[in-house]
Amino acid sequence: MTGLRGLTGMPVVLTGGGSGIGRAIALRLADEGARVGILDRDASGGAETEAAIRAAGGVASAYGVDITDYAAVEAAVEAFIGVEGEVRGLVNCAGWDVASDFLDSDPELWRKVIDINLVGPLNVTKVVLSRMARAEAGRIVSIASDAGRVGSSGESVYAACKGGIVAFSKSVAREMARRGISLNVVSPGPTDTPLFADFDASGRLAKALERAIPMGRLARPDDFPGLVAFLLSDEAAFITGQTISVSGGLTMHG
Ligand SMILES: NC(=O)c1ccc[n+]([C@@H]2O[C@H](COP(=O)([O-])OP(=O)(O)OC[C@H]3O[C@@H](n4cnc5c(N)ncnc54)[C@H](O)[C@@H]3O)[C@@H](O)[C@H]2O)c1
Repeated sequence: MTGLRGLTGMPVVLTGGGSGIGRAIALRLADEGARVGILDRDASGGAETEAAIRAAGGVASAYGVDITDYAAVEAAVEAFIGVEGEVRGLVNCAGWDVASDFLDSDPELWRKVIDINLVGPLNVTKVVLSRMARAEAGRIVSIASDAGRVGSSGESVYAACKGGIVAFSKSVAREMARRGISLNVVSPGPTDTPLFADFDASGRLAKALERAIPMGRLARPDDFPGLVAFLLSDEAAFITGQTISVSGGLTMHG
């Protein structure tokens, strides 16, 4: 028992649980007693996370789903509910990016980035929130990025999506505040995951960031699960519409 109230037995849908930050969050939520439904387009990554949770005695089921496909999200959420009951928590964590200066990018790339990082979370949120709204209970945590709060060279369209997630979450948090539902955002700084490794193939950016980050290192996936678990728990019942950066002090917001 860690003492975080309300997580035991809580059915939680989590996207992007097949790798990196999402996998670390999935493992921790299951460790807290939540029943985790993993939606990831990488079916084998999701299945690995499911297996790791089950091996540790937790409850998880993985669904190979692309979050840009609304009908597929609906089907997976319904299948999860059929097994675990109504969803009480949602973590939007799936995301993707590729380094490109804005002037070198084209509408085809913009659409792909927007589809995954903005439309995808809207799809999942709509499907889950419509059920939470009927039950007047639920907590939603979305993983944005400090790129969306302070900007980031080579990530302009991705940053636009992540800033959009912050604005979207605040707006829906207002709409849902009297209906028992909270929405909050966790905003990672640069984090040592496969996504970052693809972005920084030379390793030069990581070295420069280690010098710039006040705490002297990139974030690791395990830097996020405690905060996400807290925001999903009853301990955070009076917190909504907030964005918290986890960046080793690289970004500090008033
Ligand atoms: N790594 C960083 O430096 C960093 C910094 C800021 C924010 N973030 C955000 O953190 C989140 C997790 O990223 P990560 O670094 O762990 O990346 P990751 O690549 O390790 O994991 C991302 C997961 O999302 C899944 N995914 C991607 N597109 C999907 C889609 N369309 N449908 C379903 N699943 C999909 C991938 O298959 C993968 O399992 C993302 O939202 C990312 O934008 C990461």
